[in-house]
This record gives sequence, C-alpha cells and structure tokens, in this order.
Amino acid sequence: MNPAEPKHHHFPLNPTPQPFLSKFKKFTFQTLPLFILFTSIALAFTKSNYFKLHYFKFSLKSQTLFSPSKPLSTPSHCVLWMAPFLSGGGYSSESWSYILSLHRNIKMRSFKLAIEHHGDLESLDFWEGLPQDMKSLAIELYHTKCNMNETIVICHSEPGAWYPPLFQTVPCPPSVYRDFKSVIGRTMFETDRVNDKHAERCNKMDYVWVPTEFHKTTFVESGVLPSKVVKIVQPIDVKFFDPVKYKALDIRSTAELILGSGVSKGFVFLSIFKWEYRKGWDVLLKSYLKEFSGDDSVALYLLTNPYHTDGDFGNKILDFVENFDFEEPDSDWASVYVIDTHIAQSDLPRVYRAADAFVLPSRGEGWGRPLVEAMSMSLPVIATNWSGPTEFLTEYNSYPLPVGRMSEVMEGPFKGHLWAEPSEDKLRFLMRHVVDNPTEAKVIGRKAREDMIRQYSPEIVAEIVADHIQNIFGR
Ligand SMILES: *[C@@H]1O[C@H](CO)[C@@H](O)[C@H](O)[C@H]1NC(C)=O
Ligand SMILES: *[C@@H]1O[C@H](CO)[C@@H](O)[C@H](O)[C@H]1NC(C)=O
Repeated sequence: MNPAEPKHHHFPLNPTPQPFLSKFKKFTFQTLPLFILFTSIALAFTKSNYFKLHYFKFSLKSQTLFSPSKPLSTPSHCVLWMAPFLSGGGYSSESWSYILSLHRNIKMRSFKLAIEHHGDLESLDFWEGLPQDMKSLAIELYHTKCNMNETIVICHSEPGAWYPPLFQTVPCPPSVYRDFKSVIGRTMFETDRVNDKHAERCNKMDYVWVPTEFHKTTFVESGVLPSKVVKIVQPIDVKFFDPVKYKALDIRSTAELILGSGVSKGFVFLSIFKWEYRKGWDVLLKSYLKEFSGDDSVALYLLTNPYHTDGDFGNKILDFVENFDFEEPDSDWASVYVIDTHIAQSDLPRVYRAADAFVLPSRGEGWGRPLVEAMSMSLPVIATNWSGPTEFLTEYNSYPLPVGRMSEVMEGPFKGHLWAEPSEDKLRFLMRHVVDNPTEAKVIGRKAREDMIRQYSPEIVAEIVADHIQNIFGR
C-alpha cells in the first residue's frame, strides 16, 4: 500500500466471511463502498494514477456524506449481483449487460438491485473507459441496502471464486449460503465438460444459470443436477451497437502494421480476442496468410486484449510466421495489423464500423461477446460453429465455420478436456467467399442484426431474468 494512503482498509479483502459480516447489523448489509475498491486499485498503480484515484474516492465519499443512503424501504426484495464489474473481460461485460438491461427495462417495483465487485482484479483503465452513465449507475447500485434473508445473490464468475473462494476475492455469497433467500451461480465453460470440483460447487448453488443449450448439456453430463441448470441467454445492447450511429474509426492510424506493406483501401477483416491459444489466432493467421497475399486488397486487424497477458503481439506474430511451413509470397504477405492499445468501451462500435467482416476461429467460447457485438453492428461474422456460439449462429445470419476435428486441451485449468479444431481449409474458403461476395455478406450482416434485436435485446432478456427472480421470490 502507498504509505501516503489513508487507511481505509477496514474491509478485509480476504476470503473468510466473518469479518465481512461483522461490519453489518445481523440481518442487514450494505455492499462495499466503491472507494474501498479504488483504494485497492491504488495498490497496483503509479503516482499519477494515485491522484486520479484520490479524486474518485473523494467524490464518492462526499456522495455518501451528502446524500445519506436511502432507508430500507419497499420493496424489501433485493437482487445482489456480484461480478467482476470493474475488471473488463468476458464476465465483466456480461454482468454489465445484465445490470444495464435490468436497470433500464424493469420497473424495479418488486425488487431492488445491488451490485458488488467480485471475482477478478479491478482495472482503472476499464473504469475510466466506461461511459459516465454506467459509472453513476455503479455508484448508485453499490449503495443499495438489502436484508440478507430477502436477497437473491447472483455469483457471476467462475466457480473457483464462489464461497469459499480459491483465490483472493470478496467471497460470493458473502456469507454462508443459507443466510440468503437464494443463491445463484452464473458461469460457463469453453470446453466439452465441467470438471468435478466445479460441478460440486455448482451443486451447492440453488440454481446455475448458463447461457446456452450447449452448456445445459455439458453441465448435466458432468454431474450438475438437471433441476438446477437454467438457460439464461446473454443480452446485447443493440442500441449501443447500432451501425447507423457511428462513423468508422480510423483504425489504420491506431494500429501497428506487422506484416505486408499496408493497404489504404480494401476489404477489412477484424478479429477481437484476448491473446490466448483457445482463440485460434494461429488458425486465423495461417488461413489468412495462405489464402491472401500482397496482391489482394485485404487487411486483417487484430484487436488483442492485453488482459492478463504480456503484450508485444507483433513479435509473437513474427515468431509464429518464421516457424511457418509456408513461404512468403513473391508479392509480400497480405497485411496484418495489430491494435493493442486500450480501446475504451465507448469507442468499440467505431472499431466494428471500420470493418467489412468479423472473423474468430476460436476453439471454444462461452458465449462469444465480440461475435454478437459484430452481428449487432451488421457485420458478416465467420466463427467456429461449436460451443456457446451455436446458440445464435445460423447459416442465414453468419458464416458458421465447420469443425475439422476435436482436440485435447493441452494446458491450463481445462487440460484433458476436448474442444474444437476449426477447419483451416474451410476458413480460407469462407474468408475468400466474403471478399468475393460483398453483397451477399451485407445481406447476412443485416440478418445478423435483425436476429440480435429479436432474440437478445436488453428488454427481452431483462424480462427473462426478472421472471426467474420473481418466481423465486414468489415461493
Ligand atoms: C428478514 O429479516 C428481517 C430482520 O430481522 C425481518 O424483519 C424480516 O421479516 C425477515 N424477512 C423474511 C422474509 O423472513
Ligand atoms: C452448427 O452446429 C449446429 C450444432 O451442432 C448444427 O445443428 C448446425 O447444423 C451447424 N450449422 C452449420 C451451418 O453447419
């Protein structure tokens, strides 16, 4: 901790639940004040950030001073959503999408909404990139007060973060399971199964919400009780990701040219992913570089998320190409660009707007947020037709990429599970196909947006979530 920092740390960020509870009256608790979170963020940041943090903390504290927390009032029913709200990454954006959907679409007459950061480290970059209305909402919902016995807790994270957590995080639920009206786990996996430890943790929950039919099947096959598994699809903010509202970002000036001599006009493929093997960036580069050359007027932009990895993606790509079983074409490589600077959430639609097609030959996905964002932006999407995305990819709204074969996961927490190897040949074929058939690709992209609006609009998904919550309170 910064020695100049006042000691706000009344609040132990450790996994034992008792100190957490002792801060509150027996049956009442208030979610963590945001300034505590920023105090903990401060540990990870430099001096210049320190002053920004101080300012945040000050404004948050004055807010609590001058607008005293609302008294516990009707409705007494409460939904406490615990998720990595301040982290960025998949669960973070998913949890935000639910909160915004519920907040904007459900008249909160029958239950209150509270949020709590949980499950991953906080990122100041991510917080700063959030639109102001989301920041204000976060602050408001952090101050909601609830009675435990009238609260449904939603633990939106990987099961390892659930009480008792296997790593340093605010536990979810914040105390023993039976203190609450109901406890729900929201999670998903990217492989063909759930490991035994995770299945056990799922079975401690009253319900486990998963996003797709694929997960219902894999969770039940892995031993999670069928009566607990409920499909709750993910909302996509189709008003925010609306192509008519944005001008394209000048991505060429934001990106670094890694391969080829660069093109100023031409067909733009965009891929957005966290830099990991699962995302199939190797398959993408191979297919793209074999199919296209410097003679083609195409470019591939990789927006990679430095989230939890080291950067220097340019060199990683050059190393990969050096060990390639394929010669550089006489006309030079087709152009590959990397964008690895932080792109604020509010600028993201303009990145999609700059592309002609979105491509992600992932080996496994929980849901595939960038895919639905691209589809909502009316882009034709080429993506592996396996795991989560099978929920929404059809031959009419996208270019589902066939699986070549299944392969074993070789490392990491899912070692020994299976996931999909997308077909390289089919990927080459589909990428060439969208370049050669831009009119068809546009029709597909329009259909994609229609499907997103019809099936996953915030108001539609908010209704689904609220129904499940009402049913639990109604019992
Ligand atoms: C929850 O606890 C509070 C405080 O003890 C009590 O007033 C309330 O009636 C309880 N509600 C339920 C649903 O048991
Ligand atoms: C994609 O996968 C689903 C589920 O396995 C299958 O039913 C569907 O036919 C596939 N779609 C295409 C276009 O291959």
